[in-house]
Amino acid sequence: MNVKELVSKMTLKEKAALLSGSDFWHTEAVERLGLKAFMMCDGPNGLRKQEGEPDHLGVQESISTVCYPTASAVASSFDVDLIEKMGQTLGDECQREEVSMLLGPGLNMKRSPVCGRNFEYFSEDPYLAGKMAAAFVRGVQSKGVLACPKHFAANNQEYRRMSGNSIVDERTLHEIYLAAFEMMVKESHPKSIMCSYNQLNGTFLSENKYMLTDVLKDKWGFDGFVVTDWGAGKDPVKGVEAGLDLVMPGPRKDHEEAIIAAVESGKLEESKVDKAVTNILSALNWSLENGSKDVKPSDASTRKSDYEVALEVALGSAVLLKNNKVLPIRKGKKVLFVGEFAKAPRNQGSGSSHINSAYVSNAFDCAKDRDISFAQGYDTRDMKKSYILREEAVQAAEDADIIVIFAGLPGSYESEGFDRKDINLPADQDKLIDELSRMDKKTVVVLHNGAPVAMPWIDRVDAVLDMFLSGDAVGEATVKLLWGEENPSGKLSETYPLKLSDNPSFLNFPGDGGNPHYAEGVFIGYRYYEKRRMPVLFPFGHGLSYTEFEYSDPKIDKTSIKEDETATVTIEVWNVGRYPGKEIVQLYVSDDVSKITRPTKELKGFKKIFLNPGEKTTVSFTLDKRSFAYYNEVIHDFHVESGDFTVMIGASSSDIRHSLGIHVESSVEIPLDVNLFTPIEDVLDTRKGKEILGPIIDAALKGQGEGAGGAMGEGADVMMRNMIMEMPVVNLVNFGIVSEEQVQDMMKALQ
Ligand code: BGC
Repeated sequence: MNVKELVSKMTLKEKAALLSGSDFWHTEAVERLGLKAFMMCDGPNGLRKQEGEPDHLGVQESISTVCYPTASAVASSFDVDLIEKMGQTLGDECQREEVSMLLGPGLNMKRSPVCGRNFEYFSEDPYLAGKMAAAFVRGVQSKGVLACPKHFAANNQEYRRMSGNSIVDERTLHEIYLAAFEMMVKESHPKSIMCSYNQLNGTFLSENKYMLTDVLKDKWGFDGFVVTDWGAGKDPVKGVEAGLDLVMPGPRKDHEEAIIAAVESGKLEESKVDKAVTNILSALNWSLENGSKDVKPSDASTRKSDYEVALEVALGSAVLLKNNKVLPIRKGKKVLFVGEFAKAPRNQGSGSSHINSAYVSNAFDCAKDRDISFAQGYDTRDMKKSYILREEAVQAAEDADIIVIFAGLPGSYESEGFDRKDINLPADQDKLIDELSRMDKKTVVVLHNGAPVAMPWIDRVDAVLDMFLSGDAVGEATVKLLWGEENPSGKLSETYPLKLSDNPSFLNFPGDGGNPHYAEGVFIGYRYYEKRRMPVLFPFGHGLSYTEFEYSDPKIDKTSIKEDETATVTIEVWNVGRYPGKEIVQLYVSDDVSKITRPTKELKGFKKIFLNPGEKTTVSFTLDKRSFAYYNEVIHDFHVESGDFTVMIGASSSDIRHSLGIHVESSVEIPLDVNLFTPIEDVLDTRKGKEILGPIIDAALKGQGEGAGGAMGEGADVMMRNMIMEMPVVNLVNFGIVSEEQVQDMMKALQ
């Protein structure tokens, strides 16, 4: 279709109608001009296509299909190729089901481990979340299906998510909460994006011009259309003015009428309506031009091949948190599976992402060909039964060599729509693990959880395998990993704290009245724990393997660069163990000396590699300006402070194997608005300030230092230096160092 021509032929009424949906999942059609309605559906860990009565809360059934691991699991794979493949598979299914747009991925930051929707989000780290989201979008869009990353932005809790006001300073917003969106937009060019329900600094996202136009469209170059989260549309005119394109769901006659009235009364320029219509139609046209024309509907064989992809993702995402040489389980061992989740695993989260799984594999059935028995251990629906079930499990365990306890969070503990109250497992499960781990047996815990849980029993169990919410292949993947047919290779995409109150957002989550003040600033997740050197249960980036990797020979090709240049870091990684396996090599950066309070470690690169036993490879990373930059609120952009940086390469955020140094030189000077009360050291930091004020201060320091000596005791010269450097310019007059006239001349010269 020729979008420009089509828009020019549309009446104002037709255009206004196109700015809201025709029903729950479709855009408006303009039959007169041959424009059909397009369908959009939830995901992102599968296709949730509702054919009957629609809803977005997971109440009504959708088509029977394959459920993939949720984002929290997938991120732990640190495998961009794998998630891109998952995106392609989903794109193919959308094509087969005639769905033009998939509502995902979710890439909000995990500010608190209790946000109910964390299972739908990737990470507490924007670099990892951005890379994962970009790969997912690339995969989906490679099939001509629009991806719709969500929820833009600062939507980091479920409590009052439709009304709450997130109060976030500009640096924190850009450095943490927008960075993943920015990377994803720039690297994968999504054709659509979903704005969130909440307010940001007092303005609803659907009316937030700063976010939708200034940042997203103008600064980052986003060229798709912005759609509201379902029901997030507010004032239609303010929305269009702010850069909002489509309001969902529909029909919204009120919206249409308000737009028409505003244009007719001259309150809203028609060109703005045309722009929004053009944005929507251009994206839809792109899907028509890029989608395959000749697709057959989904059937048993497509479901089978999709399941294989789900299995590959589940295998690549699981994290072996602890292993006291009990795993992999050796042949001939008698194993007792304990726990309801061994037969009915929790494979996904609840809410709008809920997939109608055609088949969910369970570990018990998948391990039937081995020497296993089963005890239920607990009842997720009725805790009163758990006492008896626990006793039975203890008895059954007498005969076993290894007890594998399948524990985790029931659906009622974490979901879209509400936050968790704490990070505990249900009390009966903790008790069960505790009792079984006190027996003279090897104990392994398999976890099904969408977010971190506390593990009060961690020191007594021999192994913990975290499967997260791993989709339909969860049972099969668990068995393959337990018995070592596959080697675990995931690493944590978020910190597991020892207790909830350790989390930096603890005092401000969910905020009074649901209006959270992001007072912890950029220090979320490991950025906080590392800075405070706090112990955690398991650090960001942690994950074990059945083999071992050695890191050696770190190199950097340049020891000094200008900020617009790049440097290459290489390291040799060697599989020194007995199993083939994958390692996730991580690179962190820190600024050695900074005037800004910065994290001591920030992830700036990662690579997942496969090595056979005895095999060695060279892993390389490219560092650029963003690897060293922080967001500066004066220039409203990322900025590198000239100076020395440390580059750390390791197997987790707390397992750094090698460090290298690099100097980075910036040519950008942050403008300083000098007045009489500006501290002298800040003035001296500017080129002009150094020139004008430098000699005066040097002379003053010399004079004061000499005079102060003995009379004021040892260290007086340092005291004098600090006092002069930190005092405001006006004090030069107060202390008689310069005259009032001289200071006025200086001020003029510095402006
Ligand atoms: C959710 C979105 C979802 C939409 C449509 C909303 O409540 O926040 O993530 O895509 O419903 O179901």
